[in-house]
Amino acid sequence: MSRMSRAFTAWACLLILMTNAPTRAETILVAGATGQSGKLIVAALLREGYTVRAMSRSAERAASLGEGVIPAVADVTDPASLATVMEGVGAVLSAIGGRRPIGSNGFKAVDWEGNRALIDAAKTAHVKRFLVITAGSAGRDGFLYTLPLAPYPWKAKAEAYLQNSGLDYTIIAPGGLRDEPAGLIGVRLAPKNDYIVGPVNRSDVAEVMVASLMDDRTIGTTMTIINDETLEPDAWRETLSKFPKD
Ligand SMILES: NC(=O)c1ccc[n+]([C@@H]2O[C@H](COP(=O)([O-])OP(=O)(O)OC[C@H]3O[C@@H](n4cnc5c(N)ncnc54)[C@H](OP(=O)(O)O)[C@@H]3O)[C@@H](O)[C@H]2O)c1
Repeated sequence: MSRMSRAFTAWACLLILMTNAPTRAETILVAGATGQSGKLIVAALLREGYTVRAMSRSAERAASLGEGVIPAVADVTDPASLATVMEGVGAVLSAIGGRRPIGSNGFKAVDWEGNRALIDAAKTAHVKRFLVITAGSAGRDGFLYTLPLAPYPWKAKAEAYLQNSGLDYTIIAPGGLRDEPAGLIGVRLAPKNDYIVGPVNRSDVAEVMVASLMDDRTIGTTMTIINDETLEPDAWRETLSKFPKD
């Protein structure tokens, strides 16, 4: 081995020792894996070489994600069902979301109480790393954002709960989600208070989430994300690496 490759190996080992980011050997639990964002998150994790446990309320939907994914059945409205899916997990990525204002699949039950149940289950199972998708408008003042029929106040509660959980968290709060391929236009990452309303591709959100998982510097951060055509498509990677802590 040349001097240069010895130095590189030593540097790589040092980096591994310095980081708490899950290794590729660890299993990553994706809650909401069957959703429109969840599927893209699963695909991005697989591309990075992670083992993925895909959680759904339906065994059939979880299994439909294809080979290379470990299907797991649980329902966040039934906290007891979460213990098994947390076993042996290196990190949790939550992309769950309610579909209606009220009821057992409503915003309060899923976006707030459901994420709270996931956070509690992660703590019980000693899973330290937790990343979640919320919404750029969560926590904003104003009638539209604080109305209990809207998802935003519930997502804001989940954000605060995670921020105070003691877990190594990253919160990703997108603008309006749309479905275009990743990496074609720029992505603006900003602290939560600087949120500007705007659309963002689910694929870009998935890339940012998986890049955050792999970069411990994003621990303790809450970022909003929208697409921004004035930025270079890859420029967000540098912003991510220097993102200010909460
Ligand atoms: N739409 C927007 O413009 C927008 C903007 C900002 C933020 N967001 C947020 O971004 C996130 C992702 O949105 P999306 O549109 O990609 O999601 P989506 O397609 O609606 O998927 C939602 C996921 O949540 C899971 N889920 C729902 N209830 C559950 C429960 N009781 N237990 C376990 N899993 C449950 C579903 O899994 P199963 O059905 O397989 O169980 C599904 O995989 C959501 O939190 C959403 O609120 C959306």
